[in-house]
Amino acid sequence: MVQWTAADVADQRGRTVVITGANSGLGAEATRVLAGRGARVIAACRDVDRASAFADTVAGEVEVRHLDLAELASVRAFAAGIDTDIDVLINSAGVMAVARGRTADGFERHIGTNHLGPFVLTNLLLDRVSARVVTVTSGLHVLGRISPDLNWERRRYQRWLAYAQSKLANAVFAYELQRRLAAAGRNVISVAAHPGVAATEGQRRDTSLQGKILAGGRAQSPAMGALPILFAATTPGVRGGTCIGPDGRFQRNGFPTEVRTSRASRDATIALNLWSESERLTGLRAPLDAL
Ligand SMILES: NC(=O)c1ccc[n+]([C@@H]2O[C@H](COP(=O)([O-])OP(=O)(O)OC[C@H]3O[C@@H](n4cnc5c(N)ncnc54)[C@H](OP(=O)(O)O)[C@@H]3O)[C@@H](O)[C@H]2O)c1
Repeated sequence: MVQWTAADVADQRGRTVVITGANSGLGAEATRVLAGRGARVIAACRDVDRASAFADTVAGEVEVRHLDLAELASVRAFAAGIDTDIDVLINSAGVMAVARGRTADGFERHIGTNHLGPFVLTNLLLDRVSARVVTVTSGLHVLGRISPDLNWERRRYQRWLAYAQSKLANAVFAYELQRRLAAAGRNVISVAAHPGVAATEGQRRDTSLQGKILAGGRAQSPAMGALPILFAATTPGVRGGTCIGPDGRFQRNGFPTEVRTSRASRDATIALNLWSESERLTGLRAPLDAL
């Protein structure tokens, strides 16, 4: 079997890519490769100084802009400041199994940062995107359930389950967006991607036994973990509404391929409910209608 690597990323000259969380982990790896292939990368990051220090180490065009996904005013300001066409939007930023907390708008931190922020960002940028939206989910989405109590107000908080809910929301959103894009006759496709288990800051930060068990043993390098994102973002022939992940055992490591995700991630009723609840919570009227 042919193993696809970063060396297979096509020439990206003339393309503009927006990546959230571009300064760290998988976002940083993807940024290096895409900028190295000639893309203009807009690095959407919450700490501009740290992101600028990172951008200085990248060979290629990386433009840092401020984006805090945990504050909808910041998401709206970022989107309003985008005055160029975008080929690919990559929603990579995320928090992983953090302690109980709220975003600036009062949302539980995982659902707010990992789903509601990207939900608003993607919908606000959608008219400018010409090719793809890639949303980064996790193999742990299988542990998630989209609860009517999305914000963890009426149940005992469990950080891994809060993370899993938000990562299931990423997959549900990616597929629902694809359905809506297709219904609107747009050529843009929406694809989910997940890295398996990769040794990034986000992953290393959790040293608990529970975290180690859930991570499932030895992690692959961030460069390997970024391959599914790069594949989803650049390879011709990727189908909208699919998920790209590693081809190894239990999708934990390996080279990018189309992978299966949970039944819940594909459930159209769950998707419609999540979409309307996301609109209600954020006050956004998304531009695309349901099928
Ligand atoms: N690593 C894995 O094994 C693994 C497995 C499955 C899925 N994932 C997913 O992969 C994605 C990237 O994670 P990673 O492993 O690369 O972790 P990481 O190294 O911690 O990177 C996360 C990035 O998200 C940014 N971020 C966090 N909160 C933000 C906010 N409020 N606004 C804007 N940016 C914010 C971080 O910014 P700062 O640098 O300022 O904190 C950082 O750039 C996440 O969506 C994660 O769920 C990772």
